[in-house]
Amino acid sequence: MNFWAHLPRPILGLSPMDGVTDACFRSVVARHGRPDVTFTEFTHVHDVCRGPEIHLETLRYSEIERPIVAQLYGNDPELFYMAAQAVCELGFDGLDINMGCPSKSVAASGSGAGLIRTPELARSLIQAAKRGIDDWAGGQTLEQGGFKSARVEIFERMNRRRGAQPVSSREPLPVSVKTRLGYESVTVEAWMEQLLMEQPTVISLHGRTLKQMYRGAADWSAIARAVSLVQGTGTLLLGNGDIQSLDDVPRRVRETGVDGVLVGRGVLGAPWFFRPKELVRGQTCDVMEPGAGVHPEDVPRDSRFAVLLEHARQFVEIFGDRQFYRMRKHLGWYCKGFPHAASLRAQMVRVSSVEELQSVLNMFRNQPQTMAELPHDESIDETGMLASRCS
Ligand SMILES: Cc1cc2nc3c(=O)[nH]c(=O)nc-3n(C[C@H](O)[C@H](O)[C@H](O)COP(=O)(O)O)c2cc1C
Repeated sequence: MNFWAHLPRPILGLSPMDGVTDACFRSVVARHGRPDVTFTEFTHVHDVCRGPEIHLETLRYSEIERPIVAQLYGNDPELFYMAAQAVCELGFDGLDINMGCPSKSVAASGSGAGLIRTPELARSLIQAAKRGIDDWAGGQTLEQGGFKSARVEIFERMNRRRGAQPVSSREPLPVSVKTRLGYESVTVEAWMEQLLMEQPTVISLHGRTLKQMYRGAADWSAIARAVSLVQGTGTLLLGNGDIQSLDDVPRRVRETGVDGVLVGRGVLGAPWFFRPKELVRGQTCDVMEPGAGVHPEDVPRDSRFAVLLEHARQFVEIFGDRQFYRMRKHLGWYCKGFPHAASLRAQMVRVSSVEELQSVLNMFRNQPQTMAELPHDESIDETGMLASRCS
């Protein structure tokens, strides 16, 4: 079933972010301002098929996140064929292939944005994923599709933990691609032409080349050129890059004709980002709460703290105390836009439990000026916390 066809326009989606958009963050976002569509962090196809079970954590999700799309990366068609069946079995609503990650460890091995240089291989990955999906939808078991029974049991366990109902009918999933404008330079026309030959349901286009990584501004005029190429093909085009607030969306849609946008960094520390989405569509917004305006930074400090605590508690519930260090970057992102936020941020990167977090917040509420005098780790700022394998 192609859920994309039924989404309202413009589509407002949460972009995948490795190490950030985990099952916990995504469900907090879903509760505080549900996007129209959500993607998992990327998972290597090898890890889906044969990797250690812990690497399947990126494919955990809960029902509240639907529609949820599993993003995979790699460069082996056979593994994409297999992994696509697992994505179906795990009950996802769609499968996305990462052709945009610029990091050395991914792109230099020919995966992620490295695929822009090997369009034939890129196309064969889409074909393989579609074949896997079609075979699964046709009734093929995972064992018949190449999986060992121990791996199938892991998928069954994941489904049980999610409380999933047994699949009643096997519908083929839509396949999408997330990519960039080019490798070293903008070659978006030629690249889109290649991708469109495989008729992906959606192409999400980040307006930078691999070489640019995050430098410069996203080139929305190049995204507009891509829109003209998809017109009449049946493929939807989502633009991506530098959307700071939902206020930016109407202009981007008007100027480029995109079917929607994906937002990544704008949602960091702002899970309420999508809350006013009905306003953006020119309708009445019945989910907006007093105090939460169109600009995420308008959310009052104490509301931020409440969501931050809820996020931290849920993180421990899902991933356990010992992983709490992974939560620290999120805590820092919540601390912006109020007096002495920088000194609170400096404290956030040291907390190791919900209790510690609670006491730092209490101390800050009572005596923010005292905390401002505490030693400040200059190396920690919002951009520094963005270090990741992928973009
Ligand atoms: C920390 C981080 C991790 C990312 N991980 C992924 C990923 O796993 N898959 C992917 O397709 N893009 C990934 N991206 C790229 C974002 O999805 C998005 O394309 C990019 O940040 C530009 O959009 P923005 O300006 O709205 O952030 C990542 C970006 C960041 C900052």
